Amino acid sequence: MLKQLDHKFIMSTYKRYDLLIERGEGCYVFDQSGKKYLDFVGGIATCSVGHGNTFVTEAISAQAGKMISVSNLYYSEPPIRLAAELVRLSGLNKVFFCHSGTEANETAVKVAKKVTGKSEFIAFTQAFHGRTTGSLALTWNERYKTPFAPLTPKVHFARYNEASSIRPLISDKTAAIIVEPIQGEAGIIVPDKGFLKEVRKLCDTYGLCMIVDEVQTGVGRTGRFFAYEHEGVTPDIVTIAKGLANGVPIGACISRHSLDVGEHGSTLGGNSLSAAAALATIDYIERHQLMENAEHTGRYIMEKVRNLSKDSPLIDAVRGKGLMIGIVLKRPLALRISEDCLKMGLLCNAPTADVIRLLPPLIARREEADECMDILSEVLSA
Ligand SMILES: Cc1ncc(COP(=O)(O)O)c(C=O)c1O
Repeated sequence: MLKQLDHKFIMSTYKRYDLLIERGEGCYVFDQSGKKYLDFVGGIATCSVGHGNTFVTEAISAQAGKMISVSNLYYSEPPIRLAAELVRLSGLNKVFFCHSGTEANETAVKVAKKVTGKSEFIAFTQAFHGRTTGSLALTWNERYKTPFAPLTPKVHFARYNEASSIRPLISDKTAAIIVEPIQGEAGIIVPDKGFLKEVRKLCDTYGLCMIVDEVQTGVGRTGRFFAYEHEGVTPDIVTIAKGLANGVPIGACISRHSLDVGEHGSTLGGNSLSAAAALATIDYIERHQLMENAEHTGRYIMEKVRNLSKDSPLIDAVRGKGLMIGIVLKRPLALRISEDCLKMGLLCNAPTADVIRLLPPLIARREEADECMDILSEVLSA
């Protein structure tokens, strides 16, 4: 019944798996009949510290009881404290809050345009940075638009993981290079060591902003709070969202430079509730050493996949970092395999036809990893 109402009333922009989830607990979710599923999709990397996490839930309840939002016309403690935390973690200077990865990247584009006075961007093949089409262009008041014109940036695409393909695209109009430290939607593509350093070097040489999109990789998922830390580089602008508040909508653009009054805005961006949820999530991650856990559990899963690949003619390779893992298949069967896993009680998904993606909560330990691999190996052998 509810599924029929979904089809009737919600735009069918997503092809859903045949599962109606009622509640979650730790690494598990439950359907209406009480059947339990191991959740290795984790709300697509949004469930950082587990479903129903008491610490985060209490912080949300306490803040909701006090105040949810007062708009950005007034000061509020949670977003101030959260901004200070993100500055501490990134080593950058200023934060703008919004609700999604897409909006965080929109902010980054505006910051880069303002800082450089230039309007063209370099992104990479297979990159994914969001889905907006330009609300600013629809806004009438020139005051909002003129400083950022042309509104739709011209973008040149270099080949991911090939630093030599970037230089020919740089011109005196280039404002920034935007890069994912690991490409998630493309199927967990991990660039070679040194690639981000090369991007940093080019940005320094030609006076460009380096924007690192950590929307999927950030908040501890790869074993460090930001995945760029593995490479020893510091970007000029970083964007995060997904896992920052354990599923409560929030996004942030963290930057070396600031925008000024009137140059950007968001009514509910940085509201007290989502900021309180994010503060509790970061606190929980650090206090329970979940970044270290992500690194260890991730390594353990990848090792198990490598072992399984010796017996499974379907597995081609495994790639990833921490708890961001892609199992590459020799045939385009990822969707079917993820559907079969669901029937067996494991949630995983298929960002591309030949990659099964695992993005479990950062609390996943060896027990859950073993359970995931048992189901996966049974499905693959069938
Ligand atoms: C790297 C990256 N950037 C941006 C986005 C867009 O984020 P959102 O869906 O929160 O707008 C995503 C979403 O998958 C992403 O993986």
